[in-house]
Amino acid sequence: MKAKNILIFGCSGQIGRSIVRKLTKDNYIVTAVTRNIHQKGIILKTLGNAGFINIVEAKIFEEKKIRELFKKADICINLVGILYEQKKRNTFKNIHTVFPSLLAKLSKEYSLKHFIHLSALGINEAVDSDYAKSKLQGENEILKNFPLATILRPSIVYSVEDSFTTSFMSLLNKLPFFPLYYSGKSRFAPIHVSDLTNTIYHVISNNIYSKIIECVGPEIMSFREILERLLFLIGKKRILLPFPYPIAKISARFFEILPKPLLTRDQLRLLKYDNIASGKYKTNSDIGMPSKKYFNDEVKKYCYMWRDGGQFSTEKYNLEKKVD
Ligand SMILES: NC(=O)c1ccc[n+]([C@@H]2O[C@H](COP(=O)([O-])OP(=O)(O)OC[C@H]3O[C@@H](n4cnc5c(N)ncnc54)[C@H](OP(=O)(O)O)[C@@H]3O)[C@@H](O)[C@H]2O)c1
Repeated sequence: MKAKNILIFGCSGQIGRSIVRKLTKDNYIVTAVTRNIHQKGIILKTLGNAGFINIVEAKIFEEKKIRELFKKADICINLVGILYEQKKRNTFKNIHTVFPSLLAKLSKEYSLKHFIHLSALGINEAVDSDYAKSKLQGENEILKNFPLATILRPSIVYSVEDSFTTSFMSLLNKLPFFPLYYSGKSRFAPIHVSDLTNTIYHVISNNIYSKIIECVGPEIMSFREILERLLFLIGKKRILLPFPYPIAKISARFFEILPKPLLTRDQLRLLKYDNIASGKYKTNSDIGMPSKKYFNDEVKKYCYMWRDGGQFSTEKYNLEKKVD
């Protein structure tokens, strides 16, 4: 019988929203767990038709409540992740290591058919980043507790719902210059969220087990190139200013005071490393799911919001073109 009930943690984020839409459309029944049903319910409710999505409020360490959810689940997907630590228990260790380890243990105990975990690309290399270390340790714990688990390591993920291209375009709009860390040479393989969720879907529907899969887009771009492409797409010219490491570190220290830091010292360390396929693991292409979406084509669909003239800057309203 087809595994039907999918328990997802962290589905109010960019990747979660996309995978829940895809799964519920194909008649899977999703239980979406959120920390705050009042804040996130409005987002989650509209991701699937009535009867295909149940929303449950639970904190990630409410083990008793989480156990109840595992009793009815066939598959568990973990999408919970943070980019910077906050007060109380919101540490990298708790969120990227302890919590995934608990989910893996419960997956085993309740005989789930699958556990799929979202990790991150480049974590073997980024040895001085606490984020990367906690993600790597989380992977080890998972594989120890539930060897059937499939771990996906995406490069940076983008879409209109991201906090990457959209935040960068907002900043590029406002700032006269933009800092280039490590001379903008670090390389990325951005993957569109739909290519990533198609891969997750493929893992579920084809029963792909016990694998670490690196998920990358079809193009490799340096940090500088990403900024140049975004500037081109929003029709702006800005100075891209190389920041020497000591200055970058001071600015990151300053940003850390903000409630939602633009950059932390840990992220700065992470940025030093390339974020591309390592060649040591299978990729999404190797499992038959090559990425099909190209960066400029996809960002072009929503970048008009950051262009002068907004929607009227799009080809639809381009009068000169119409006269032609
Ligand atoms: N986006 C990327 O570029 C990218 C790249 C590589 C890896 N990843 C990994 O992929 C996964 C999903 O990414 P995403 O971008 O969709 O994530 P996201 O939007 O940043 O967050 C996913 C969800 O995690 C939950 N969450 C956040 N902070 C939490 C905390 N302190 N305690 C408990 N739950 C918390 C939130 O759900 P509720 O508020 O509903 O509880 C949130 O919606 C993450 O593990 C991330 O590390 C993402």
